Amino acid sequence: MKRILNVVGARPNFMKIAPIHRQMKQFPDSFEPILVHTGQHYDEAMSKIFFEQLQLPEPDIYLGVGSGSHAEQTAKIMIAFEKVCMEHHPDLVLVVGDVNSTLACSLVASKLHIPVAHVEAGLRSGDVTMPEEINRIVTDRLSDYLFTTEESGNTNLKAEGIPEGKIFFVGNVMIDSLVHFLPQAESSHILEELNVTQGSYALVTLHRPSNVDEKEKARQVLEILNEVQQLLPVVFPIHPRTSKNFQRFGFTEMIAHMEQLKMIPPASYLDFLKLMKHARLVLTDSGGIQEETTYLGIPCLTLRENTERPITVHLGSNEIVGMNKSRIMEALNLILNNQWKNGEVPQLWDGKAAERIVKVLKEH
Ligand code: UD1
Repeated sequence: MKRILNVVGARPNFMKIAPIHRQMKQFPDSFEPILVHTGQHYDEAMSKIFFEQLQLPEPDIYLGVGSGSHAEQTAKIMIAFEKVCMEHHPDLVLVVGDVNSTLACSLVASKLHIPVAHVEAGLRSGDVTMPEEINRIVTDRLSDYLFTTEESGNTNLKAEGIPEGKIFFVGNVMIDSLVHFLPQAESSHILEELNVTQGSYALVTLHRPSNVDEKEKARQVLEILNEVQQLLPVVFPIHPRTSKNFQRFGFTEMIAHMEQLKMIPPASYLDFLKLMKHARLVLTDSGGIQEETTYLGIPCLTLRENTERPITVHLGSNEIVGMNKSRIMEALNLILNNQWKNGEVPQLWDGKAAERIVKVLKEH
């Protein structure tokens, strides 16, 4: 019987842990999974609604650390999580993704000689100015089980000297959740509520510090959205980081003048799946959304200079377009003229990644 702390902290963690936690619960003789929520994300719209919709149980342990600078947030999580480890003596700590909670908990576990499993290992953007890249590199270095989603992950880890025996190519747990919940998402009424129709709107998400934390960069982003919304309605569920910055920079009036821009609070999981599935295209700086659109075959323009998920570009429906307005408008025209690549679903993105992970953990 293995006691496993399954760690979540921020929004993109919830859909990754849900299928793993559910799968572990299927084997009560082998696993005692304990769900730990660091509280990195705490708003109802960023956290609770995801637990409900993903049918995750209430966290067994809630650390309530909240927001702060990177050092503050990481340190608070470490202090609180160390106490949890000392009290519960887990056999394994399982972390997902690349957020500060992922890094903090893997660091604590490894110092206490508790084995660490990292789900979504090996992804590299090559850009260490991204906080997530640092989180990914350090977490992988400390991990004992590295579960990868795409071939580039295996290659990157081997190049960094990680022994092959620690690397397990299992596929994508976020796609497990997508496959599982897509039928339910179809009954969401979000399109009617927003007065948009299938295949006729663009969906936007933007929250990377490099795009929204500086005034001039954020203005550039809005100028791009202004052009896009002149061609088709734009639905923009806005992350709290982005909305706080737009207000701080005094952009409220500029936004109000964009008639076809529908800025809405952060969407729930099921509403967001529905919005993605029926969008004409998606513009994003998220990591996960590049993968979800590839699975769904929806054209995706990534407003960044690089990606840690290259398979979404080589095989999928994603392109990296940076902040170059003319490049973005060119791509948009191709999409609206039905000249975009079709893309394929990557290997092992089949809804069964969590099964494979739990099998590996059972056998080791
Ligand atoms: C974090 C992750 C990022 C991930 C994103 C998904 C890190 C370094 N970054 O970024 O990789 O893509 O989550 O959303 O871990 N806030 C609220 N309510 C909340 C949570 C946050 O208002 O429930 C606001 C606060 O002002 C906070 C800011 O958002 O300061 C940023 O939150 P934080 O957790 O620091 O990083 P994210 O930008 O959300």
